[in-house]
Amino acid sequence: MATYDTLGATYTRTRRPDPRIAAQIHAALGDAQDVVNVGAGAGSYEPPQTVLAVEPSQVMISQRPAGAAPAVQAVAENLPLRDNAADTVMALLTVHHWTDLNAGIRELRRVARRRIVVLTWDQRVFRERFWLVRDYLPEVASYDDLRAVPVDQLLDLLGGGRQEPVPVPHDCVDGFGAAYWRRPDAYLDPQVRAGVSMLAQTGDDALAPGLNRLADDLRTGRWQTRYAELLTLGTIDVGYRLLVTDLGPSAA
Ligand SMILES: C[S@@+](CC[C@H](N)C(=O)[O-])C[C@H]1O[C@@H](n2cnc3c(N)ncnc32)[C@H](O)[C@@H]1O
Repeated sequence: MATYDTLGATYTRTRRPDPRIAAQIHAALGDAQDVVNVGAGAGSYEPPQTVLAVEPSQVMISQRPAGAAPAVQAVAENLPLRDNAADTVMALLTVHHWTDLNAGIRELRRVARRRIVVLTWDQRVFRERFWLVRDYLPEVASYDDLRAVPVDQLLDLLGGGRQEPVPVPHDCVDGFGAAYWRRPDAYLDPQVRAGVSMLAQTGDDALAPGLNRLADDLRTGRWQTRYAELLTLGTIDVGYRLLVTDLGPSAA
């Protein structure tokens, strides 16, 4: 059974594409003729030229909107596609879930003719800049230390490429890990936590002391005083990164 068959049951309640992040991803896809989305989940950020979604969890596939590209139940490590099948392959917030990263990236390179676009995060930046894991939930930072893929390693496996910071808007629509950086009460909501794998997989018992402290600090106004500067910002960079790798003869 795929992990997201349990983890993803309520995914689309809190995880919907954010239009500003969508614009950045679509710009990175450029003039791609056809796109395969690997680790596609419920289809967030898929551009209209998506021809296939690859996703291991039936629960996630069942949350894809009507009219979305066809989905095949499969894993990145063994893509059911021929070599050079698609102009561009994208993999968004998924590589940290793969059981064999090297095999998965090899498959992306085998299937993509021209470009690979990966959305991930730099754990060194994330654990230092994101107040929730730095100051309240260090066990979550430790958990992510084990599964996060270092950006340099990922770029090496991809065969090089560029990285772009992905700033998180204060009202981010897509409820991923740091989406609620300026809406701290959200992390006290079990439904929000269920949509964030680093929180869901760490588990409520381990989170309880930190979340109780957060609830206290919000009640007493300590959080608002301590993080007053954050409340003045519209976006922050906490380490989300878009990696863009060009392949083939035109990639210098
Ligand atoms: C956080 S969700 C991201 C989904 C989607 N890309 C998005 O941005 O909303 C991670 C997804 O990766 C999928 N996944 C886990 N292991 C995988 C694997 N080995 N190959 C492909 N996808 C995988 C999960 O089932 C889940 O749908």
